[in-house]
Amino acid sequence: MEQALINKIKNNFVSEFSQEPLMVFSSGRINLIGEHVDYNDGFVFPAAIDKGIALAIQKANGNKSTVIASDFEESFQFEIDKIHVIDGGGWRNYLIGVIKELQKKGKRLDNINVAFSGNVPAGAGLSSSAALENAIVFGLNELFGLQLTKKEMILISQKAEHDYVGVKCGIMDQFASMYGEKNHFLLLDCRTLEYETYSIELEDYELVLINSNVQHNLSESTYNKRRALCEETAKMFQIESLRDLTKKELWQRREEFSQEEYKMVLYVIEEIERTTLAAKALEEKDIKKLGLLLYETHNGLSKQYKVSCEELDFLVDFARNSKRVVGSRMMGGGFGGCTINLVEKEFVQQFIELTSSSFQEKFGFECTPISVELSEGTHVINN
Ligand code: GLA
Repeated sequence: MEQALINKIKNNFVSEFSQEPLMVFSSGRINLIGEHVDYNDGFVFPAAIDKGIALAIQKANGNKSTVIASDFEESFQFEIDKIHVIDGGGWRNYLIGVIKELQKKGKRLDNINVAFSGNVPAGAGLSSSAALENAIVFGLNELFGLQLTKKEMILISQKAEHDYVGVKCGIMDQFASMYGEKNHFLLLDCRTLEYETYSIELEDYELVLINSNVQHNLSESTYNKRRALCEETAKMFQIESLRDLTKKELWQRREEFSQEEYKMVLYVIEEIERTTLAAKALEEKDIKKLGLLLYETHNGLSKQYKVSCEELDFLVDFARNSKRVVGSRMMGGGFGGCTINLVEKEFVQQFIELTSSSFQEKFGFECTPISVELSEGTHVINN
């Protein structure tokens, strides 16, 4: 799959620019558990996947840069020293953000030719945006010998998303996309950016992703609102972030919160705990325990943090009704995208069929299974 995508974009680039490009592949990500806690300095448990963005890049000869977004059949021309954020610029702003941030750091860039394409379904919650940001910063770093570390690169990607796209995301997506390792999850401490790798051994179970094919545009503004609430609460308690808050301390000041907000803050504290418990369960190969934690996370995201939607809740409830599915939850920022499910290996096919038909019956449109492998993070492709 990855190879077909790479060949396609390379050919596209060569026929457009008559140059040999540098090829980069940057991965999307999944997340086992630890949702909406990265911006609270919590623990998350993501992995890079074999689906992502393939990008071809080379220095341009003239005084113009050209970027081709193959999937949208769109292109964008600019002079690299005169680039500005574009209102409603969509994918262009990811690119502009990365370039501007590099320039702010005093990195000198010349004009470039770029073509890119992806195989992460947009809006599926698999972080196609982080993959795109990372692909650009990684490609520019290689091409111009900027000597940036991976950590510096992901912070630039994140800044691009904050200040040029407007989503105040945490660091999980960019981290997983950049640092991913084949067949491993990364247990990441978002406070220190230290991480441990966990081999994906799920005994008799398999991970199955189901895309609800729902994309609610509420997600970005609500995301920023949730983050703001977390930050205000941390200030109120005079702590750095919600990572430093206990349930008891929250309870003692419960009267200062509305019921809704109290539940949201509680969710964050509980989810940070759950992620640590999930790592332990995975270490002990207790997949049923891991699954229960996934179900608890979904409850929290849906009922306390309120970032789910009817379609995602339906998918999780449907999974819950089968003993052969030990865990299920919505994944990512919310309001649409995928569920991640822990399904008995021998039941996977049937699970997909049953889920698809009842989803179709209930909502009148399809949900789609997505198969992924845990893969290496952002890297250069050598042919
Ligand atoms: C989005 C953000 C991440 C993270 C998740 C929720 O994917 O980009 O930083 O907050 O939502 O866990």
